Amino acid sequence: MSTILTSLEIKELRRDFPLLAQKVYGHPLVYLDNAATTQKPNQVLETLDTYYKQYNSNVHRGVHHLSQVATDAYEAARKTVADYIDAGEDKEVIFTKGTTDGINLVASCFGKAMLKPGDSVVITAMEHHSNIVPWQMICEEKGATLKVIPFNTYGELELDKLDSLLDDSVRILALTYVSNSLATINPVKKIIAAAHEKNIPVLLDGAQAVQHMNVSVRELDVDFMVFSGHKIYGPTGIGILYGKQQWLDKLPPYQGGGDMIKTVTLEKTVYNELPFKFEAGTPDIAGAIGLAAALKYVNAIGIERIQATEAALMDYAMEALQKIPNLRIVGQAKQRAGVISFLLGTAHPFDTGELLDKQGIAVRTGHHCCQPVMDIFGIPGTTRASFAFYNTEAEIDALVGGLERAAKILL
Ligand code: ALA
Repeated sequence: MSTILTSLEIKELRRDFPLLAQKVYGHPLVYLDNAATTQKPNQVLETLDTYYKQYNSNVHRGVHHLSQVATDAYEAARKTVADYIDAGEDKEVIFTKGTTDGINLVASCFGKAMLKPGDSVVITAMEHHSNIVPWQMICEEKGATLKVIPFNTYGELELDKLDSLLDDSVRILALTYVSNSLATINPVKKIIAAAHEKNIPVLLDGAQAVQHMNVSVRELDVDFMVFSGHKIYGPTGIGILYGKQQWLDKLPPYQGGGDMIKTVTLEKTVYNELPFKFEAGTPDIAGAIGLAAALKYVNAIGIERIQATEAALMDYAMEALQKIPNLRIVGQAKQRAGVISFLLGTAHPFDTGELLDKQGIAVRTGHHCCQPVMDIFGIPGTTRASFAFYNTEAEIDALVGGLERAAKILL
């Protein structure tokens, strides 16, 4: 295990995030909503500023100097992403709008090419809506069935059901690496191997994973993986779809337009090669370059150190929260990352969240876009604290104090 960041290092690193220094309602901001979106370091903000001030131009289109500089930076960003997730080829990295966009792309294109009536798609019961709804839509369109791997009361997948669920009708398995509502880290390497034994490809939702741990798409041997830039210290509106070349080549394009074509006549279009086939229209150039800056920032700290630091902070938070009378943690898997979901007695999560907000503590409340998870637990939602490497034990103490004050009012 890597060494954790010292408090001095965290203090220094926090200076990179100007937003964290502000006060909310007169209290120092305690930002514990990192699973929704992370804050952005100066290194990313300055990269965006430099792009727009010095070389803003369209990519893959102009012979002029600025367009060349922008194209080089955009393609260098693709390489930075490929290296970060250990993709074999840069062209297996497609820039998207985000995780949701990437899953919709795969569901739509894979569904068009591969699904027929009687087929099925397998997901898990702990998916974010973005990894449920696109599959429901394409299954409905194609007359296919959506099947679900359940989880137990700890929030761990019931893998003894996997073998029977992965029957001959299954064309693809789509699941999350880390649950955004329960924190569970799923044993995806094992699951992917089990699916591959039956020739079933796997899509991994990496939105809550890549910022917390080292993820190698080649080591996992995963077929598709998606994630969002804004959850890993990058800009909003940019995301990644990784796909094995053999799969991406088989799929039809997602959208038609500029850049995704080789030739167009009024009768027929020949599509461009990877990765451009899936990048119709002017992409989010600044977003891609900003995301690369974010990944370089993470690399400079070291993802293993980030993982170790966050794990120690999560342990500290779990221990402290469990001491609060009437606080119930929702999701108690052995392998966890990123978030702690809880209920404070009978208080509605919104009320808990609002009282924390008034004390400058930002958490997310509600179903976290996982209504099926809440239905399974029979609860309206949770209050969720979610962590980044820049969070401190003092901030956890502030959360605990804030909850104790909220409990006095609500319970
Ligand atoms: N998916 C994001 C979250 O879990 C928005 O908060």
